[in-house]
Amino acid sequence: MSNSPMIELIDVSKRFAGTDADAVEHLSLTIEQGEVVALVGPSGCGKTTTLRMINRLIEPSSGKVTVAGSDVSAVPLHELRRNIGYVIQQVGLFPHRTVEQNIATVPSLLGWDSDRVRSRVDELVDLVAIDRSILQRYPSELSGGQRQRVGVARALAADPPVLLMDEPFGAVDPVVREHLQRELLDLQARLRKTIVFVTHDIDEAILVGDRVAILNTGGVLEQFAMPGELLAHPANPFVAGFLGTDRAIKRLSLLPIDGSSLEPLPPDGIDYHSAGAIDIGVSLKEALDAIVSGNGHHVAVFDGTVCLGVVTIDMIHRRLAG
Ligand SMILES: Nc1ncnc2c1ncn2[C@@H]1O[C@H](COP(=O)(O)OP(=O)(O)O)[C@@H](O)[C@H]1O
Ligand SMILES: [Mg+2]
Repeated sequence: MSNSPMIELIDVSKRFAGTDADAVEHLSLTIEQGEVVALVGPSGCGKTTTLRMINRLIEPSSGKVTVAGSDVSAVPLHELRRNIGYVIQQVGLFPHRTVEQNIATVPSLLGWDSDRVRSRVDELVDLVAIDRSILQRYPSELSGGQRQRVGVARALAADPPVLLMDEPFGAVDPVVREHLQRELLDLQARLRKTIVFVTHDIDEAILVGDRVAILNTGGVLEQFAMPGELLAHPANPFVAGFLGTDRAIKRLSLLPIDGSSLEPLPPDGIDYHSAGAIDIGVSLKEALDAIVSGNGHHVAVFDGTVCLGVVTIDMIHRRLAG
C-alpha cells in the first residue's frame, strides 16, 4: 500500500444549509505520501471547507474522502484526529493552558504516561525551535511567531502522517512569515509528512508547494500542477491572472543557474567585476536582478573565489523558452 495516495478527494461537493450554491463543487484531488500540496485561491473559494472535509470537521454533501486508503466517514473520529494534525491561522491555542500543556494536548488525550508526554514535548521543542523559557507561559504572553510554532508543535505531537495547515502564517508580519516558511520547508525535509497547506498568497503557495492546486469561486479546481509547470503553462486566463503579471520572474526564481552552460568570461578589456557577482547557488531571478543592477548584459558567477563564467540575458531567455 506504500505507493497508494495518502489523501484522495473523489468528486466531493459541499453545499451549506441555507445556501443556493456549492462552496465546493465536484472536486477531485489526489495527494501523494510525503508531498506538500498548496491549495490556493481567492477568499471564499472553498479552501477551508475543502481542508475541513479531510478531517471531517465538515461533512461533504456528496463524494468521498479517503486518508491512507480508508474512507474517512468510516474512521472513528479520535483515530482520524490522531492521524491528522491541524494548524490554523489564529492557532487556536487553549488560552488557559501553558505552552507545555498546549503541546501535550493530544498525547495527554491519548493517555500517554507523564514521562512519555514530557519527553515528547522535549523532542518537539527542539524540532520546532521553541525557546524553553516560554514553556510555562500562556498563549497571550507570546509573539505571533512563537504562537505559530507552538501550534505546529501541538499538531505534530502524536507524529501524525498528515498535516493540514489553514493559512498558518497569515497573521504574522512578512519577515517572521518568511522565516516560518523556511522553517516549515526544513522541517518537511526531515519529516516527510503529507501536508495540505491552504493560503490565498500565490507566492507562498509556489514556495511551499511541491504541487499547487488553484481553486476558483465555488471550489472549482482550475489547475493542479507543480509550480514550474503552472508558471510555464497556466491552463486558462483565470490561472494566468491569479499567477500575476510577474509570472516570468516567478519562474526564474524556481530555476537554478546551470553551471555547465555558463558562457566564458567576456574578452579582454572588459572588467567582469563591473557586472557584479553572484554565487552559483542562487536562482536565475537573482542572476537577472544582478544583471539589471549592473552593466545590463551579464553577471559573473562564482563558486567560492573561483569565477565559473557568466550568465547573460540571452541565456535567461533560452531557459524561459526551454
Ligand atoms: N458554515 C457555513 N455556512 C454557510 N456558508 C458557509 C459556511 N462556511 C463557509 N461558507 C461559505 O462557503 C464558501 C467557502 O468558504 P471557505 O471554505 O471558508 O472559503 P476560503 O477558505 O477559501 O476563504 C464561502 O462562500 C463561505 O461564505
Ligand atoms: Mg479560509
